[in-house]
Amino acid sequence: MDWKITNVSVLEDTIFQLKLKVARQIGVLGGMTVVEIGSGQGGFTAAIAKRVGEKGRVLAIDSTREYAEEFARRLDRYSVKNRVIFIQADGTNLKNIVSDGTADMVVSYRLLEELKRPDYMPRIIREMARIVKDDGLVCLTEISAAARNEAEEAYIRLHKESGDYLFKPDEITETMKKCELEGISVSKVDTDIWFSPQLAKQDLGFAQVWFDPDVEGRLGSMIDAYGMKYPELLIFSGQKSARN
Ligand SMILES: C[S@@+](CC[C@H](N)C(=O)[O-])C[C@H]1O[C@@H](n2cnc3c(N)ncnc32)[C@H](O)[C@@H]1O
Repeated sequence: MDWKITNVSVLEDTIFQLKLKVARQIGVLGGMTVVEIGSGQGGFTAAIAKRVGEKGRVLAIDSTREYAEEFARRLDRYSVKNRVIFIQADGTNLKNIVSDGTADMVVSYRLLEELKRPDYMPRIIREMARIVKDDGLVCLTEISAAARNEAEEAYIRLHKESGDYLFKPDEITETMKKCELEGISVSKVDTDIWFSPQLAKQDLGFAQVWFDPDVEGRLGSMIDAYGMKYPELLIFSGQKSARN
């Protein structure tokens, strides 16, 4: 099989292009102020920062500083450091950190899968709805749990079996409605990111891939046969009504 991606640097740029596509699709525009929760290693932060341009601002929030070095390196790589501020904080309670109605958009990229507890999901979405301006959009991007081939199945199993929780789409949309977001939509973004087995067996934090002897035992033969594929993405969007 001809796995398209066999090189870490190409993988990083390909995933960055995917994140840029998501940022474009959700409507991030020049000059916007965007708050991102769960910025991690900064891949999506850099994509949003590219889109908002010199006059825009991105406030990136994460509960840990563990990725600070990678985060800074990624902002440098994509030349967007001057428009990003990072704050370490828990996204379930940002009341003392970000005022109501501050942001043109509030976004996340693969945050929900890594929450410590499922009941954090409604608390985070409530905070996102509080922080966004009237008529502004809240957009959450998550991977789809519906594998369409063995390579996607290997990627999804890697996450589920390591403790990630992939919420059902209805759980997310129902919560968004309860948080008084309106015009809820779910759109899909397919990817063409196929990892070779050799690449899939490396530590690739920016691609949310962590390989260890335990994974080798459970999924090694599947990955040898099929490699892995970055799954389809689901984008959940909702607008804060000016009436609320
Ligand atoms: C899969 S990573 C995000 C990937 C990142 N957005 C990217 O584009 O590469 C999930 C991130 O969410 C953060 N996180 C988990 N729970 C959180 C919370 N309650 N508040 C803020 N960040 C949280 C984790 O620390 C982790 O960095």
